[in-house]
Amino acid sequence: MTLLDPSANIRLLFVHSSNRSREHLAEQLQINSWVVRGADTLHAARKILDTEPFDCLAISVSLADGDRTAITQMLQDRYPDLPVVFMTDHGHAENMIDLLKLGYFSFLVEPTTAAQITSIVLQTIRQQRLLVENRKLQKSIVCHEVCQKLPQNLPPDEQVKNLVDLARTHLRADGVTLLLNDTMGRPGDYCAVARSGQNSLHLSSQKIFEQFLMENPVLTHADDVENWIRNAHTPERSVQSFAAVPIRVQGAPLGMLHAFVAQPGQKFSSADYAGLEVFAAQLGRALEDAKKQGTFQDTFTQTMEALARALEAKDKYTHGHSDRVAIYAELIAKAMDLPQSMIEKVRHAGCMHDIGKIGLHTGDLNKTQKLTAEEFEVFKSHPIQGKRIIEPIVFLRSLIPCIYHHHECFDGHGYPEKLGGDDIPIEARILAVADSYDAMTSNRPYRKALPHAVAVAELKQYCGKQYDPQCVDVFIGAIETFRNQRQQNGLTNPD
Ligand SMILES: [Fe+2]
Repeated sequence: MTLLDPSANIRLLFVHSSNRSREHLAEQLQINSWVVRGADTLHAARKILDTEPFDCLAISVSLADGDRTAITQMLQDRYPDLPVVFMTDHGHAENMIDLLKLGYFSFLVEPTTAAQITSIVLQTIRQQRLLVENRKLQKSIVCHEVCQKLPQNLPPDEQVKNLVDLARTHLRADGVTLLLNDTMGRPGDYCAVARSGQNSLHLSSQKIFEQFLMENPVLTHADDVENWIRNAHTPERSVQSFAAVPIRVQGAPLGMLHAFVAQPGQKFSSADYAGLEVFAAQLGRALEDAKKQGTFQDTFTQTMEALARALEAKDKYTHGHSDRVAIYAELIAKAMDLPQSMIEKVRHAGCMHDIGKIGLHTGDLNKTQKLTAEEFEVFKSHPIQGKRIIEPIVFLRSLIPCIYHHHECFDGHGYPEKLGGDDIPIEARILAVADSYDAMTSNRPYRKALPHAVAVAELKQYCGKQYDPQCVDVFIGAIETFRNQRQQNGLTNPD
């Protein structure tokens, strides 16, 4: 439709208490091929507006059931995007001044001609469309700025929850829900993954999804809501307005973000819809990041698993050792209240700490007699070998300090760098305790496993020499709790 073309099929609702005026206007506008519907009261106008689309509303400022104030209130609450022409008689300039103050600028003073009506309606539609575009742009900018202010380093689920909460606040919605569909790209059952406010809507998901495929907006009001929500009208609540936008991850529709208002008189505008689209786009990005992190995590885990298996194949006595060291190291890190990222690093390093043994001769690793001095010197190279193996694997590099220094001693007599005290990374000091405890309480080629009490006594004896005293103290407390829990769960512990 060309907005300045009078022959465009415009749908006009004309609200006037006078039958004669309505009939006269309809007759006059027949030349334009417009569809003109009439209503004699505000109530009748509302019923028609709620069920039929119109390009413009021409309304008398004085109706039997509504004056200027009632009309403008209804328009602002329920039809904020609708172009409106107010009709008034001569001698009521105050009406026009008050309406101008409220942002309405299209008036007709009766009696009018067809040419005047045509001109003012077309002009009003054009101006209103520009105004609506401007409102949408403003709302999009505000919502975008709000999203940008969110901390970027939050875990994905927190990021998603925050965005859904923000969407509800900025749309003044009663409920906002993020639904995701596992069957990527096909209609299916959506699953709610984040909610803000009220929600127990039963959606016609497939119908909504079809609209997404056709790239149609899903923004619906009043009675039409029933076409999209199966429980829109209940005794407790009547959904006034419902909006849904697709969530796209890497271009594929993965789900939807929907919002509703149930307060009487409230309605989403097209600017609100634009705001919802901004939040949906941000959620799509957050989910995309989470997906990438998941893929990264899978690669990380698979690589560690492959390396651990390679080591086990080489050194049969290592079987289970690395996993137990990881568990004990995690126990210590948690008991020390270290940040979650360090707890995870310590656990991963526990799995990988002896990876350098892959580079040693199998005979040395499985020897039943004590190593000769020469063989021990070769054995001592395994932290260096471990560092060399891990260095090319970018996402494992953060584990290098733990692997490289796990045989340093607190008094500076360890290897490979003879670091001492706090110069040894805390993760490596933790690993040293966890590694020694498990080595002592496990069978070795050259001796049987030592009892738990002996291993603990050994840790205490070498506290401050081989081991960080703080790590030993924390471990002795944590291991007792750990052993008790295992016992209660019917699991065995080292004697
Ligand atoms: Fe080692």
